[in-house]
Amino acid sequence: MNRDVIIACDFPGREATLSFLDLFPEGHKPYVKIGMELFYAEGPSIVREIKARGHKIFLDLKLHDIPNTVRKAMKVLSNLDVDMVNVHASGTIGMMKAALEGLTRPDGTRPLLIAVTQLTSTSEEMVRSELLIGAGINETIVKYASNAREAGLDGVVCSPLEAGMVKEACGKDFLTVTPGIRFADAAADDQVRITTPEQARKIGSDLIVVGRPITAAPDPVAAWKRCLEEFI
Ligand code: C5P
Repeated sequence: MNRDVIIACDFPGREATLSFLDLFPEGHKPYVKIGMELFYAEGPSIVREIKARGHKIFLDLKLHDIPNTVRKAMKVLSNLDVDMVNVHASGTIGMMKAALEGLTRPDGTRPLLIAVTQLTSTSEEMVRSELLIGAGINETIVKYASNAREAGLDGVVCSPLEAGMVKEACGKDFLTVTPGIRFADAAADDQVRITTPEQARKIGSDLIVVGRPITAAPDPVAAWKRCLEEFI
């Protein structure tokens, strides 16, 4: 997979999202991520509208339910013609296999399917004392990534700092999609374990998800180009 930068379109609604995308000149169509906030506010129509403008879309809804429900929900999402969707790996191998079945269209095509291992907001302490997972966070991440691979998924969402160990366990073709990216000269905001686009490339990220460093920049198009230059 060719490396690319995915812009997290964390906007409250259609108007703000489309005015942001209008900043990009013809011929410059960034890969975008639509998350729960925008999808729940606007529904499937916002996905179709952005797709019709020529953008690749990662629909970040992180499904996690019983296999039958996830299979049916994925079948609905496969009709939206997005490029990538995701589930929580903690839903088990059976749920991930069901997701893949639901997502696969009658002609055999499907969007990429990746799994969240542990959210980057979850700490080692939480894994051990709240979730009672004695193995610890890194071992859990590698195991969940291996489960995703066994279920036939294409990759995982993880911190760039974990991309190396995921590649080691699951192979170099197993995708790592990584948020938590900041320019070397910028604020971290609420992200804790961050890397620059260049570090993310060196560690092994295939796709980086970048929100505020681009969406809140004085010149978002220039920030997107800088990200591409440092990462590709
Ligand atoms: O603005 P920022 O670059 O921090 O945005 C990162 C994006 O990636 C947000 O949409 C956030 O929800 C998402 N994300 C994350 N960490 C994860 C999973 C998703 O930051 N583990």
